[in-house]
Amino acid sequence: MKNWLRGFTVLTIALMLSGCAKKQEPASQASPGSPTTALKSAFDDGPRAAAAPVDEGVVKQGEKLFKDKGCSACHAFGRKLTCPDLAGVTQRRTAQWMEHQVLHPEIMTKQDPIAHELFAKFALQMPNQGLTEAQAHAVIEYFKHQDHELSTHK
Ligand code: HEC
Repeated sequence: MKNWLRGFTVLTIALMLSGCAKKQEPASQASPGSPTTALKSAFDDGPRAAAAPVDEGVVKQGEKLFKDKGCSACHAFGRKLTCPDLAGVTQRRTAQWMEHQVLHPEIMTKQDPIAHELFAKFALQMPNQGLTEAQAHAVIEYFKHQDHELSTHK
């Protein structure tokens, strides 16, 4: 890649980051010639969450938490509110990535390239809703359940 273009890429990324993070991403994120590296997330390796069977025993609890913990104020399934539409989210992400997003959204938007891109797109920081790991698991199983329902009742 031409030097000026590389400089431009690095500058653009630096500008994007400066809004919410003082620390710059590792240089590898800005490596020229491979635009996809910018979206590589350490938590998003491996099969999508939907590939694993649903832990049906916690789905009801997850559904309740989704309302009680305020998630439904911002998110819906198959409808775009002010935040990402969660329909199909378990086909887009790994369970591990979603767990990190739910437990540490404020860290994810700064350090994880996927969350950072969502943050740039929606111009809103998802708040930390203080879920425990077990609660995050239940909510993610609820998402998997929703995606299974949507794909079997088409
Ligand atoms: C104030 C609005 C708001 C609330 C409340 C909220 N979120 Fe979010 N959520 C967002 C935004 C905005 C993003 C995109 C990342 C960012 O900008 O922080 C997001 C991203 C996500 C994602 C990733 C979506 C994708 O397409 O990959 C998941 C999963 C998620 N939220 C789950 C939850 C859960 C579970 C709760 C409740 C515990 C919750 N959110 C509460 C605003 C919200």
